[in-house]
Amino acid sequence: MIDQFNVVANAVLLEVLPQHRKRIGICGAGGIVDSAHLPAYKKAGLEVVAIFDTDNAKAQDVAKRHGIPTVYKTLGELLSDANVEIVDIAVPADAQPEIFAQVAAAKKHILAQKPFATTVALGEAMVKQAKEAGIIAAVNQQLRFEEGVAAAHKMVELGWIGTVSNFSINVNLITPWELWPWAKDLDRLEVMLHSIHYHDLIRWFLGDAKTVFCAAGRTPGQFPIGETRTISTALYASGVTSVVHANHVNRGGDNYAEYRIDGDKGSIRGTFGLLYDYPNGRVDTLEVNSQVLPTDGWLPYPVTTRWFPDAFIGTMGSLMKTISTGAPLRSSVADNIGTLKMIEALYTSMDSGKSVDL
Ligand SMILES: NC(=O)c1ccc[n+]([C@@H]2O[C@H](COP(=O)([O-])OP(=O)(O)OC[C@H]3O[C@@H](n4cnc5c(N)ncnc54)[C@H](O)[C@@H]3O)[C@@H](O)[C@H]2O)c1
Repeated sequence: MIDQFNVVANAVLLEVLPQHRKRIGICGAGGIVDSAHLPAYKKAGLEVVAIFDTDNAKAQDVAKRHGIPTVYKTLGELLSDANVEIVDIAVPADAQPEIFAQVAAAKKHILAQKPFATTVALGEAMVKQAKEAGIIAAVNQQLRFEEGVAAAHKMVELGWIGTVSNFSINVNLITPWELWPWAKDLDRLEVMLHSIHYHDLIRWFLGDAKTVFCAAGRTPGQFPIGETRTISTALYASGVTSVVHANHVNRGGDNYAEYRIDGDKGSIRGTFGLLYDYPNGRVDTLEVNSQVLPTDGWLPYPVTTRWFPDAFIGTMGSLMKTISTGAPLRSSVADNIGTLKMIEALYTSMDSGKSVDL
């Protein structure tokens, strides 16, 4: 059994080979750069040469604490720096398209934060800009690289649970929305900013859905105006189903974040430790119950790294590998259009109260 786990462990290793490494310039010095991007890059031995934020004091502070040698006052200066090979964008989604267009025009490779864009039309225009500029651009849907779910993906690929019939994600959290003042007045909140991770992840396993339905709710007294509870279901052409239930105003105080993948020869179940006490979190869990191996019941798989910061090595590392070798990207901007279509369909369903065909 240890040998079989070895195959999975080798497939989900998060490392960036020295010959693939490129120099990074960062646009945005906010919470996620400070707490996840930069710690991940340090762990992987990646070089961040410069940073820019419209809030210069914030950029100075982050640069000082993380040892980034240059702080620029404008995006133009960052883009003129020949040392910057990849621009890592991490700003609120509304600001991203304008920055993306300028970075593409400067012919620097891009890692864009999620949501890549807030509409499919905007996202498609950005994919076109990247293609015309001849740059490689990826989206930071780093959950695709989280060790536990990446291991689950490999187990499914190896046929350990047979043919997949359903993917469920169920999270019930006390999310500190106060950390993101810019999100307070967003009409489109939960699916656009949070569950987009789950919908993108499920697409990685199951492909594009055929029909979706989404019901959304709010809790009296909540901080943001947008939806904070969503229940999304999807049906695939093969008859496979998926469900995502996410609540961010858990007044019960018992945070949990669970997922489960069922197949005709077994099941996989796991937890996202990060969300039990965001952003500190606890270890992830993963178990497999397989009639194929067989496992004789639920067998724990040892997950040794975390969503934050480790999975961020995956998105940046995969971009660097693609730039160096032409290997396929796990989270390309072109692929992300499918995720944006899913998100748009879920909001159409939420607004109309009807299911929506993709
Ligand atoms: N798991 C994840 O991948 C994850 C987690 C949290 C946030 N995010 C995403 O990352 C982005 C940033 O989130 P955050 O939590 O760091 O927010 P934040 O509010 O902490 O920081 C945003 C930063 O962007 C800067 N900024 C705004 N407009 C800018 C512009 N035009 N040019 C340069 N800098 C600009 C702000 O000054 C601020 O420092 C958002 O899109 C968010 O959805 C992703």
